[in-house]
Amino acid sequence: MVNETFDYVKYLDVKKSIDDRSLNEVVWGHFSNWLLSRNKQDSTLRVLEIGAGIGTMIERLLEASLLQKCHYIVLEPETMFKEAALSRFKGWANKYGCTFKINSEGLWHISNNELDIFIEWIEADANKIDQLFGDKSFDLLLSHAVIDLLPVPTIMSIILDKLKARGACYFSLNFSGNTEFYPAHDSDHKISELYHLDMDSRFPNLDWQPSLTGIALPIWLKKYGCEQVVDGESNWELGEGDSLFIKNILDTIKKALAGFPGLETWLSSRYKELDQEILAISISNRDCFGLK
Ligand SMILES: C[S@@+](CC[C@H](N)C(=O)[O-])C[C@H]1O[C@@H](n2cnc3c(N)ncnc32)[C@H](O)[C@@H]1O
Repeated sequence: MVNETFDYVKYLDVKKSIDDRSLNEVVWGHFSNWLLSRNKQDSTLRVLEIGAGIGTMIERLLEASLLQKCHYIVLEPETMFKEAALSRFKGWANKYGCTFKINSEGLWHISNNELDIFIEWIEADANKIDQLFGDKSFDLLLSHAVIDLLPVPTIMSIILDKLKARGACYFSLNFSGNTEFYPAHDSDHKISELYHLDMDSRFPNLDWQPSLTGIALPIWLKKYGCEQVVDGESNWELGEGDSLFIKNILDTIKKALAGFPGLETWLSSRYKELDQEILAISISNRDCFGLK
């Protein structure tokens, strides 16, 4: 359940264009070439996206003409995102002259002369994946800005088992351990260190540091047996024009580190700099594509 102090639907909407400019072009190139070549086959592409939020990755793929005939299954635990996604897809279909139909609860269809896309929206957590799908059920696994929230050592092999042989996975925007602020402040190092430690406390019983997911994930994929694993940086460079997004990051740090001595002084400088539009933040992420 989302428990944020800000409007999460708005946050994901604003995040879409920030992610667009941050995605690693080389990794995206491998991913899109794979999709273009797979689309030449006549059979329906079966896709699973874990943690789709309000559906912006589906829009991104549609806008890049990378989906044609597919059954796109979403696993998303947050109830309010389903309504937001439905409204976005209706709007998208309308804008691009496509037909949009609700076939049944959570099963939507977008079509025109070239598109035949079924979106099946399942309100569930990734830990239900084994109960919901058999092994080798999908041609493509996707997850964007989510894998660092999952217990990778226990769940990753279960997720990858759902992929058919020669299937592909694209896991993008995985945090990779670095948060920097400009202009510099004496407490920056301590604050970012504690913020990363807070992330790393997500799975106390696992030997796993979520804050280093972006670096560790390609190693996991190779260990599992994936081939042609490519990865690269997709850092967020936030500054002028990104005020709402930066404010949400400051609010997240405020919540995570509540009570830490010096936090209030640091935050009050940062919120002031945000108002003056002189605050910039750089956050390291990595994208990863692999073939099974
Ligand atoms: C940072 S948001 C990213 C959403 C979307 N992929 C995007 O980039 O706009 C993280 C998403 O992961 C979902 N999520 C968190 N834990 C999850 C889990 N265990 N299984 C499936 N989804 C999860 C959240 O509900 C949220 O939609």
